[in-house]
Amino acid sequence: MARYNDNNTVRVFLFVLLAMLFNTVYAADEILNSENISSPRRVELRNLLLQDCGSCHGMTMQGGLGPALTPEALKNKSRIMLETTILSGRPGTPMPPWDKLLTRAEVSWLVDVLYAGVN
Ligand code: HEC
Repeated sequence: MARYNDNNTVRVFLFVLLAMLFNTVYAADEILNSENISSPRRVELRNLLLQDCGSCHGMTMQGGLGPALTPEALKNKSRIMLETTILSGRPGTPMPPWDKLLTRAEVSWLVDVLYAGVN
């Protein structure tokens, strides 16, 4: 009986380990692949950009309370800095964090849109 339980513990342990490994690989894939974002979600994200982000950055991203987010304004700014700013916000400034509402893949896609120009 004791032996049966030991074997079972090993099986459960291995199962959990495999599940964790699988989850890590799957999650990493999810993060990198912004191609996975569905077209209806893209429409929502574009609306968010124009309305929510636009309320501070200007409806045409020319700037307002927040700086301009046009291709011209962003061309020398790194993707990692832009993505981090959107995900974590800028503490001490009005720029809020969006990591509760947006995934990394979605933020990455938004940065693609900003580099290319929203309009
Ligand atoms: C409540 C106002 C507000 C909202 C809403 C807002 N921002 Fe900002 N954002 C700011 C401000 C202010 C800054 C400048 C912060 C500073 O002083 O460093 C900023 C900075 C940024 C920057 C860095 C720009 C740079 O040149 O360094 C990016 C990128 C950005 N915001 C994207 C977004 C996106 C995308 C959204 C919507 C998902 C958004 N912001 C919503 C106010 C806002």
